[in-house]
Amino acid sequence: MTQQAIIGTDVERAAAWLHAGELVAIPTETVYGLAGNGLSPDAIAKIYAAKGRPSHNPLILHIPDLDRVALLAKEFPDEAKQLAKAFWPGPLTIVLPRLPHIPDAATGGLDTVGVRVPAHPLTCALLSQLDFPLAAPSANLSNRISPVTASHVFQQLGDRIPYILDGGRCQKGIESTIVSFAEERPRLLRLGSVSEEEIRHFVPELEGLRKDGSIAAPGMLRKHYSPLTLMEVMGEEALAYFDPKGLRVGILSFGPLAEAPSWAEMVKILSPNQHLEEAAHHLYAAMHEMDGLGLDLIIAIPFPEKGLGISLNDRLKRAAER
Ligand code: TXA
Ligand code: MG
Repeated sequence: MTQQAIIGTDVERAAAWLHAGELVAIPTETVYGLAGNGLSPDAIAKIYAAKGRPSHNPLILHIPDLDRVALLAKEFPDEAKQLAKAFWPGPLTIVLPRLPHIPDAATGGLDTVGVRVPAHPLTCALLSQLDFPLAAPSANLSNRISPVTASHVFQQLGDRIPYILDGGRCQKGIESTIVSFAEERPRLLRLGSVSEEEIRHFVPELEGLRKDGSIAAPGMLRKHYSPLTLMEVMGEEALAYFDPKGLRVGILSFGPLAEAPSWAEMVKILSPNQHLEEAAHHLYAAMHEMDGLGLDLIIAIPFPEKGLGISLNDRLKRAAER
C-alpha cells in the first residue's frame, strides 16, 4: 500500500475494507487497534507485516457482545463470564481455551484465544455489522507507543493501511487488562485500564503477574511502549541531585512538582489534581508529544503504587527499558 490512509468516521467504508481483506485502524476506549478479519490468515499476515510484529505474539479478537465468545472459545467458565458481565463492553481481555477454526496465525500457535468487547461506539457499530471477529493489536509499530488519536496512527502506519476510523481521543488511554482462564487458576497476564483490585473483587483467587521475569503474555516484553527519545524513571526527590550535563531534558509528572528544576526544558503535568484516570488518559499522548520535541532525555516521575498507578508504572518501566 503506497497510498496514504484516509482518516474518516465512515463505518460502512471501514466495513467494506475489512470485507475486502484489508486492514483498518479502529478506535477503542483503551488505544487504537490495527484491525483485520480475525478468521482470515491473509488479513492476519497483513497485521503482522504492517506492525513488524513477531509472529509468535498472539492477537486479541474483538467481538460485539458476550454471546459471540461461544463462537471462539471451547469453554467459558462461570467466573470468566462474571468478569465479562462486569467489565464488558470495556477494557478487559479474557484468555480462554480456543476453538480449532481460529487460524493459528491469530493465536501465535497457542491453544488459547484472547477476546474482548470494546466500548467505543464507532467500533461497536462496526463490529455488529461484521460476521467475523476483528483481530486487533494496538495500532503502533512493534515496541512503539500505542496510539490514542487517529493522527498518532497516521504517523506510524499512514502509508501501510487504507483507512483509519477516527473516533477521537481514546477515553481510557492505556491498554486493556488481560486475565487468563486457560490454566488451572485464573491468572493476571497484563495490567491495564482495570486495576488488579477490581479484578480480584470478582476473582479472589486470582494469581498475580508472574514475578520471576518469565513472560506470561507473549507480548509482555520488558522493552515495550517506548518513545524514540531516551527515557528514565526517577523519583521526584532525586531531581535535586540530577546533573543534566547540558542535555535537553523534559519531565513527565503525575501532578505539579514541588519545585521545577531550572534545567528542565519542559515539565508536562498529567493530572493537576492527581487523578490516576486522568493521568492514564493523558499519558501516551504526552509521551507522543514529548517524543516529537527532539529532547535528549525524558525523565518520568513514577505514580503512586496503588490501583491504576501500578499499571501506569508498568508502562513507564517498559518505556524506559534500554
Ligand atoms: O486495549 C487493548 O488490549 C488493545 C486494543 C486495541 O484492544 N489491544 C492491544 O493488543 O493492546 P496488543 O496486541 O498490542 O497486546 C495484546 C497482548 C499481547 O501482549 C499478547 O501477547 C497478549 O495480549 N495476548 C493475546 N492473546 C493472548 C493469548 N491467547 N494468551 C496470552 N496472551 C495473549
Ligand atoms: Mg501493543
